[in-house]
Amino acid sequence: MANYNKKIVITGGAGFIGSHVVRLFVNKYPNYQIFNLDSLTYAGNLENIADIEKKENYQFIKGDITDADFINQLFDKHKFDGVIHLAAESHVDRSISDPLAFVKTNVIGTMNLLNAAKSIWANNYERKRFYHVSTDEVYGSLGATGLFTETTSYDPNSPYSASKASSDHFVRAYGETYGLPYVITNCSNNYGPNHFPEKLIPLFINNIIEKKSLPVYGDGKYTRDWLFVKDHAVAIDLVFHEGKNHETYNIGGFNEWQNIDLVKLLCKKMDEKLGRIAGESEELITYVKDRPGHDLRYAIDASKINRELGWKPSVTFEEGLGQTIDWYLANETWLKNVTSGDYQHYYEKQYS
Ligand code: NAD
Ligand code: TYD
Repeated sequence: MANYNKKIVITGGAGFIGSHVVRLFVNKYPNYQIFNLDSLTYAGNLENIADIEKKENYQFIKGDITDADFINQLFDKHKFDGVIHLAAESHVDRSISDPLAFVKTNVIGTMNLLNAAKSIWANNYERKRFYHVSTDEVYGSLGATGLFTETTSYDPNSPYSASKASSDHFVRAYGETYGLPYVITNCSNNYGPNHFPEKLIPLFINNIIEKKSLPVYGDGKYTRDWLFVKDHAVAIDLVFHEGKNHETYNIGGFNEWQNIDLVKLLCKKMDEKLGRIAGESEELITYVKDRPGHDLRYAIDASKINRELGWKPSVTFEEGLGQTIDWYLANETWLKNVTSGDYQHYYEKQYS
């Protein structure tokens, strides 16, 4: 048996961002024992982490964070030193049709993890850390100008962002009330390999491959800041190890795009990669009914993490988008697997 100097549980490690975080930790820290706790919802996929499955310092645990008894027993058994919490219901459109599922996983699930950590650490917080991975959507919507900073007031508009805001507040409250050593990061929109094709970029990549229409909500002038997922994983590693307790850090790509401009760029790149006639994919763009409560603009001031921890994105949007498209084209089986079955029902309901 190897002698590990830290036991870390990463929740949601079979999902999009979580799989990149788990891979980074398992490969970079052979002296840490990494547990990947995931209930494998529609968004969780063991194929995302097949390459590390057999690593000695890695163990997958199938389990639901909403099950308090299970979580308490698990924490009691393994006595984790660190929690990196990514498990969540993550899609805004799904939160509009089923908000309660978001309260259960994002709020109650987070509470269960906080209680279990508090219980096993029992006020002995040396070398312990609870890291809550959150979103910039908790800050609500910006107008045409301005940036979210760590001191921007929370003002969530969607059931998703309300549930994430609530979980952020509970994490902070456990820090203030019980002294739990926590860090929170609020990150902008991620993109990259393994992204489930319900979010804008992977959905549109899949639809372009299949020559299906590209449903742009409203006038397409909504703006998001986009960050390559591997740069987010690097930031999480840095904050986990070097961030200050009881602090929050904003993470962003310095990379704002109006949806319609991003979609046109994606169409252009896909036409090139697929050897299609220039302009072919753009013809698939269809303006559809807007999302209710659609936030106009998100933009992040990531100067704190840059100044204090030296982090900045390493990949340009051109490079990241190119790598992302290449990954989807090289992994058509992955795409086929995740878009069969339930996905078809979701798609019909959301876009018919
Ligand atoms: P995702 O939907 O791709 O993956 C979520 C993972 O959590 C899946 O593997 C799923 O099986 C697991 N999960 C869901 N409910 C669970 C439960 N009850 N118990 C155990 N596991 C459960 O999400 P993502 O995009 O990778 O996001 C990960 C985290 O990062 C989330 O907390 C999200 O709020 C946050 N975040 C996401 C983005 C983004 O752009 N995707 C940006 C900022 C922050
Ligand atoms: P999304 O990827 O769902 O992320 P979020 O809502 O968390 O920012 O959406 C990104 C943007 O793209 C958002 O403004 C909504 C828009 N959008 C569409 O126009 N059409 C779509 O089919 C989807 C899924 C999103």
